[in-house]
Amino acid sequence: MQVLVTGAAGYIGSHALRALVGAGHRVIALDNLSRGHRGAVPADVPFHQVDVRDTDAVETILREGRVECVMHFAAFTYVGESVEDPLLYYDNNTRGTLSVLRAVERAKTPRLVFSSTAATYGEPTEMPIRETTPQTPINPYGMSKLLSEHMLRDFAAKSPHFGYSVLRYFNVCGCAADASLGEDHEPETHLIPVILQAALGKREKITVFGEDYPTPDGTCIRDYVHVEDLADAHVKVMEALAPGDARVYNLGIGRGHSVKEILDAVRRVVDRPFKVESGPRRAGDPPALYADPSKIERELGWRARHTDIADAIESAWRWFLAHPAGYGD
Ligand SMILES: NC(=O)c1ccc[n+]([C@@H]2O[C@H](COP(=O)([O-])OP(=O)(O)OC[C@H]3O[C@@H](n4cnc5c(N)ncnc54)[C@H](O)[C@@H]3O)[C@@H](O)[C@H]2O)c1
Repeated sequence: MQVLVTGAAGYIGSHALRALVGAGHRVIALDNLSRGHRGAVPADVPFHQVDVRDTDAVETILREGRVECVMHFAAFTYVGESVEDPLLYYDNNTRGTLSVLRAVERAKTPRLVFSSTAATYGEPTEMPIRETTPQTPINPYGMSKLLSEHMLRDFAAKSPHFGYSVLRYFNVCGCAADASLGEDHEPETHLIPVILQAALGKREKITVFGEDYPTPDGTCIRDYVHVEDLADAHVKVMEALAPGDARVYNLGIGRGHSVKEILDAVRRVVDRPFKVESGPRRAGDPPALYADPSKIERELGWRARHTDIADAIESAWRWFLAHPAGYGD
């Protein structure tokens, strides 16, 4: 298939692009490079430095490339920033998705796979989280994605030749096994790279936000899914998409690790000292969040292969050691 990957220069988009190529698909990369890295996209892949809100430009790429599926990763992803500047998130994420959908409509592109997030569930009413768990986001980032999901659903309802999938990721982690692609965010907020940066001496310490949660060791529990498993899920979902499909799946491993468990696992992998301090709970951090990923396993046979958190930590550590300055741009 011919696939347009938006946000292809970002962490997950670049891994998905590689998985698509590996599965024999043809790819076109799009990114405005606001938060991504040109070096994350191979030089032989057609690359468009375009903003997804430029509907005409996206439409032209879809038409000229005869694109059969859009994988829409492009978005801003910081919860804190979204609370500080909500309109930035509604503009970039929600309006960005609206623009992509308008271009898809005009170019009659038949498929779209959308990057959504567990943040759309907010503080869930049940655990593990199923796709039917009520979605009540507690920050503008989660809401910007939920509104995008709704637009997609309503657009698809009147487009019988269109099939789509919404993939709700839990905590994505790890890097390409060969350490050639990785996580390079500024600022970095994800737990594993933050700890690894402390181990590398690139940050003074790591702060554990809350040790009095109702969990076995008192720290928050999250579901960590390896980015290469996530990328494979995208390929599988896309290949299954038929006209009229509306496939919504959680992508997680189905169980959680606490912050303390992650710290212990990092200590075992990196064998370097780093400073850990206790901090207060953060507002809006539920004690435990983990997926029920059984729907995608039942329907498409996908399940995460990397279920040992040490695998993800080792891959991220290899990336950091090989690329101390990230992509270097
Ligand atoms: N990383 C996670 O743990 C996680 C969890 C749940 C959902 N997600 C979703 O996955 C997707 C990818 O996340 P990521 O971690 O790779 O983020 P990222 O910041 O590494 O990548 C996003 C990319 O999109 C680009 N981009 C942003 N706005 C754009 C625009 N208007 N036009 C064109 N390009 C634009 C950025 O330059 C960047 O390269 C996002 O939609 C995010 O909401 C990520």
